[in-house]
Amino acid sequence: MNILVLGSGGREHTFAYKIAQSELCDTLFVAPGNAGTAAIATNVSIGVTDFSAIKELVLKENIKMVVVGPEDPLVQGISDFFASDDQLKDVIVIGPSKEGAQLEGSKEYAKEFLFRHHIPTAAYQSFTAETVDQGKQFLETLTAPYVLKADGLAAGKGVLILQDIEEAKNELENMLTNKKFGAASEKVVIEEFLDGIELSVFVLTDGKNYVTLPTAKDYKRIGEGDTGLNTGGMGAISPVPFVDDIFMGKIENQIIKPTVDGLAKENIDYKGFIFIGLIKVGDDPKVIEYNVRMGDPETEAVLPRVKTDLVQLFQHVGSQSLDEVTLQLDERSATTIMTVSGGYPEAYEKGKEITGINSISESIVFHAGTKLNEDKIVTNGGRVIAVTSFDQDFRKALKKSYQSIEKLHFDKMYYRKDLGFDL
Ligand code: AMP
Ligand code: GLY
Repeated sequence: MNILVLGSGGREHTFAYKIAQSELCDTLFVAPGNAGTAAIATNVSIGVTDFSAIKELVLKENIKMVVVGPEDPLVQGISDFFASDDQLKDVIVIGPSKEGAQLEGSKEYAKEFLFRHHIPTAAYQSFTAETVDQGKQFLETLTAPYVLKADGLAAGKGVLILQDIEEAKNELENMLTNKKFGAASEKVVIEEFLDGIELSVFVLTDGKNYVTLPTAKDYKRIGEGDTGLNTGGMGAISPVPFVDDIFMGKIENQIIKPTVDGLAKENIDYKGFIFIGLIKVGDDPKVIEYNVRMGDPETEAVLPRVKTDLVQLFQHVGSQSLDEVTLQLDERSATTIMTVSGGYPEAYEKGKEITGINSISESIVFHAGTKLNEDKIVTNGGRVIAVTSFDQDFRKALKKSYQSIEKLHFDKMYYRKDLGFDL
């Protein structure tokens, strides 16, 4: 079967890497892809939300499966676009319907869903420009720190955690009245602050059944010791060492099952990944957020541990028969470390030549922001290359990744040297 992966990051290179290994895959396309996907698939220069160009490609190349990497096309309804088109309706799309994608597209929608299904999460209320005064009064009833979340997609920047009540009130005003995050902050969710350690679980569901993929922990801040600005993610470790069977049982029973059952009960068409951001408060898991896709860079640590054929898994998603699958996993730990362009997540330069990739043999190299410039590989984004390694012991796996990274060079390359410091 011919398969298309949508996206251009490390996550999509990892999807392509796994799919290319499957005997079920004939020709693999990635749109738009990067220099890493170009080496194992055919890159097509089409944007991930250009549905009509995607349709044309799918028909021309007889593509039967589309794996959607990022959230934007999902929130814009790519699954519904395929399902409602006579020529496309038999193509398997890995990614939920527009309705399902609201779990990520609207914080309020997600909170209402969580409460409807009695899934543990922080208490909250939501406010609009009309109710900004009530919002300020609500803040008065809470204790610091104050958590303000823009309702809509804000490129990972829409969450503010503030210590000072006056600052929290001002920011609420900024978000609602002055549209600090544009349309995304026309509504704001104010949440109880949860104190604990974060982790993520990943689920692949066909809308009825599901398989639980390995857990992972990512490192979001740019600076060592989890300091400085938020990024898309500077590295990830899978599995999360502090998750034992008892805690995993709680996650399964209190969070994963009610989530999948809730989607089924509400007839929400959901065939794809659910990435559940959790916080361990005391001994109990609580949901911080849903994402309707895999995480990046979590994918670079999670998917290499999945031994079951990925295309076969996706076929079971398409035929709603995931209950027939037992997931085979590599029991070793996988760690991925992201190298980034100097300056990221603020302004950075692109087009720097990357060398040393071919001298890395102990780790897997996943490209994120890279592209081909004639016969050179050059930087093309903030996050540039992720380096994944395996070992029984996650600290040894990290060491391998760090040794491999030393072989890699580009001008102003930066990476965090302290991953795992908190474990
Ligand atoms: P979100 O986009 O909802 O995942 O929020 C971004 C980050 O803000 C999370 O990864 C957490 O570190 C933090 N965060 C969000 N909600 C809360 C909360 N209720 N309590 C504490 N931290 C939170
Ligand atoms: N690494 C976090 C995310 O993909 O949203």
